[in-house]
Amino acid sequence: MLKYVVALISVSVALWSGCEWLNLWFWELAEVSQDSGRLLRQEELSLYNGREDSRGLYLAILGQVFDVEKGRKHYGPGGGYRFFTGRDASRAFVTGDFTEAGLTDDVSDLSPSQIVALYDWLAFYQKDYTHVGRLIGRFYSESGKPTDVLQQVEASLAQGLKLKAQAEKENELYPACNSEWSSDRGGRVWCSTKSGGVHRDWAGVPRMLFSPGSGQTRCVCVRLDDPTHSNNPNLQEYKDCPPQAESCLLSQD
Ligand code: HEM
Repeated sequence: MLKYVVALISVSVALWSGCEWLNLWFWELAEVSQDSGRLLRQEELSLYNGREDSRGLYLAILGQVFDVEKGRKHYGPGGGYRFFTGRDASRAFVTGDFTEAGLTDDVSDLSPSQIVALYDWLAFYQKDYTHVGRLIGRFYSESGKPTDVLQQVEASLAQGLKLKAQAEKENELYPACNSEWSSDRGGRVWCSTKSGGVHRDWAGVPRMLFSPGSGQTRCVCVRLDDPTHSNNPNLQEYKDCPPQAESCLLSQD
């Protein structure tokens, strides 16, 4: 069931964004969320926690259970990530809070981008480990159906992917500048064909880009030959820097 829900979101998000990689990513994810396998209760999952008399090494993430025996050096006794076994500690995969309180499947306060990161982990386990089944609890009902909680998480995932696609689009349009600071000359920003991690055939010129939501500014490179930039009220030239210059010294005031 979840497979089809995810596939459906895939099609709508991909159509909405026109983004090929997103579509591929989502279809891969659809494979992640298999309906197949066993339905386990927490008591049964706990038997696979790697402690004495343990039946093996299982962990759950977003209610999907995986056999992580292959990664015994990480998950077995003495391993750096042994605390993940025998339970669903989804939250800790993105917070890095490995205390008992942090090792929980409550992901309700995670941001959409954290949920995207969590699904990246799910995709990792699907790729590298054997899927065992689903855990009855927060994400799957007694009959193995996705719960309302899981549906909310999926909605947050869709939102996170939308934000990620927007950010990537903006980064392509306005790649970040290079920057440096020295005590004698102060700050300098400049553009090159590789700045901001975006490889391109134009360098552009530095401009300040205001983010209306946050009130913050950042240096971005804009193409002088693209007239759409001149209509963008959030772009501003650097003080005392010629509009055509590829490099600007930052004034101290
Ligand atoms: C949110 C924080 C983190 C989480 C949830 C996390 C989780 C994990 C997990 C689950 C594995 C095992 C992967 C597998 O099954 O192969 C792993 C491996 C590893 N992690 Fe982390 N980790 C975190 C942060 C870090 C940090 C900050 C470092 C380094 C300073 C680090 C270094 C490593 C190393 C070296 C491995 C072993 C890679 C290998 O041998 O294949 N991790 N991590």
